[in-house]
Amino acid sequence: MTPHQYSFRKATLNDLDLLMAWQSTPHVREWWDVDAPYDEAALADARVRRWIVSTLGRPFAFIQDYTVHGWQDHHFARLPKGSRGIDQYIGDPEMIGVGHGSAFISARMQAIFDEQAPVIATDPHPDNKRAIAVYEKLGFEPFGPPRETRWGLILPMTARRQRAGNSQQPWTNALSRHD
Ligand SMILES: CC(C)(COP(=O)(O)OP(=O)(O)OC[C@H]1O[C@@H](n2cnc3c(N)ncnc32)[C@H](O)[C@@H]1OP(=O)(O)O)[C@@H](O)C(=O)NCCC(=O)NCCS
Repeated sequence: MTPHQYSFRKATLNDLDLLMAWQSTPHVREWWDVDAPYDEAALADARVRRWIVSTLGRPFAFIQDYTVHGWQDHHFARLPKGSRGIDQYIGDPEMIGVGHGSAFISARMQAIFDEQAPVIATDPHPDNKRAIAVYEKLGFEPFGPPRETRWGLILPMTARRQRAGNSQQPWTNALSRHD
């Protein structure tokens, strides 16, 4: 099977209606804050990069990555320099549960590791079994027990960049293009 190709473009203020629509769907609301996605000031915040993910020209998902050292007392603040956190959802209900999540997150992880991040962290709700299954498939492991944070109850998870020469990474199985 030919792998899907995913493109990632920076989110803008023009995407707010799309993101609000995605965030109001039940499958996203179950696991994602109902807050407005972001405003102009948040978009200018260099700590976070926000991406609209498309395949075959169709936008279907949102992913953001952030420096784990950008907030005092962040639960990932003790990770090594250059580590990044990721958060994501598939907005389009038709695209859920058919492999796109594993594949586009894998593609984005590859890009972040290519930038030399030593560790990528993510923090699903401990009851979000589908997300946790996907993250484990991509090489994430729990990093301590579930814990309360100011962003809610989380299961901290981390994936480490493999050294050159190691066998193929779990996250290299999808093609991607970054605009
Ligand atoms: C989490 C998310 C990005 C995953 O993407 P996806 O395309 O749905 O997932 P995939 O189809 O790639 O893989 C799903 C995997 O989870 C497994 N799975 C599904 N439900 C599960 C459950 N209740 N328990 C355990 N595993 C489960 C599937 O079997 C599949 O694994 P497999 O490929 O080995 O069979 C997507 O479902 C989503 O956006 N969910 C709503 C928002 C959300 O939860 N975001 C994450 C916040 S941390």
